[in-house]
Amino acid sequence: MAKEKILVTGAGGQLGSELQVAGKAYPQFEFVFVDKDEMPLDQPEMVRSVVEEVHPSWCISCGAYTAVDKAETETELAFVINGDAVGAMAAACKTVGAKMIHISTDYVFDGESAIPLKESDPTGPINVYGASKLKGEQLALQNNPDTVVIRTAWVYSEFGHNFVKTMIRLMKEKPSLTVIDDQIGSPTYAADLADTILKIVTAPRFVPGIYHYSNEGQISWYEFALAIKELIGSPCPVNPIATAQYPTPAKRPHYSLLDKSLIKKTYGIEVPDWRKGLTTCIRKLQASI
Ligand SMILES: NC(=O)c1ccc[n+]([C@@H]2O[C@H](COP(=O)([O-])OP(=O)(O)OC[C@H]3O[C@@H](n4cnc5c(N)ncnc54)[C@H](OP(=O)(O)O)[C@@H]3O)[C@@H](O)[C@H]2O)c1
Repeated sequence: MAKEKILVTGAGGQLGSELQVAGKAYPQFEFVFVDKDEMPLDQPEMVRSVVEEVHPSWCISCGAYTAVDKAETETELAFVINGDAVGAMAAACKTVGAKMIHISTDYVFDGESAIPLKESDPTGPINVYGASKLKGEQLALQNNPDTVVIRTAWVYSEFGHNFVKTMIRLMKEKPSLTVIDDQIGSPTYAADLADTILKIVTAPRFVPGIYHYSNEGQISWYEFALAIKELIGSPCPVNPIATAQYPTPAKRPHYSLLDKSLIKKTYGIEVPDWRKGLTTCIRKLQASI
């Protein structure tokens, strides 16, 4: 019997790469990993034809325009990739009868909350990237009711570019570092998110809708940097600074801690503490040097 196909976009990104690793434990599926060459997300009509050609049972949408600051000037492109292409993918999924898991972001919120954010809380993006991702969520759910949207935050992995790898590099290169201490959230180890996605695919019951997922715990970027410093045993001094002292083209939410109750209850997901994922990731990075 032919295996069920799972089409994964953004194959070479952080999450796509972790899905390539995690997918090895699921030999019952045929994974089709695509990136820019096979499925250019800036050409939504191509997205539709690739989905129809592959004819998957599942589409896991990890590909995205993720350059948060650059999006402030490349607004149109960000909206095509994060909005229109996602809408086209969802419509094509509906045509072929595929379920979709689309990855979104904590940046759909304005960051003014003081308590962990629930899926039903009002959105209000404060930058172009967040607004384009919100459009993608809306089009995905509208065009294919069999869609799960997972909002995640502060993603890092041994693959691709991220805060953890940047900190490790800068701690080797610079005499000291300053890191923002007034943006609060929780990091997400992409390997943990990849496991969660595949648990949803293999769950006994598919319950569409929006879900929040990050690792457990609440920290600032400064505290995250301190933990990285401790784990790699770096002597580099790390000092806290306020967001106001580090202006960037895109505004970031001050508080974006995600409440994970719904995904835990609905899909029985156990969410590891952020320190566990960070320790594993750094061990893997050190082993690969
Ligand atoms: N990183 C975070 O902190 C974070 C936080 C919250 C939510 N998210 C969301 O989580 C998901 C996965 O993020 P990630 O960290 O794995 O992102 P990533 O490492 O930046 O990977 C994004 C992937 O999308 C691909 N891509 C970009 N433009 C494309 C285009 N025009 N056509 C086809 N593919 C294109 C990239 O290919 P190239 O490498 O060739 O450009 C890359 O493979 C995304 O939906 C993102 O919005 C991420």
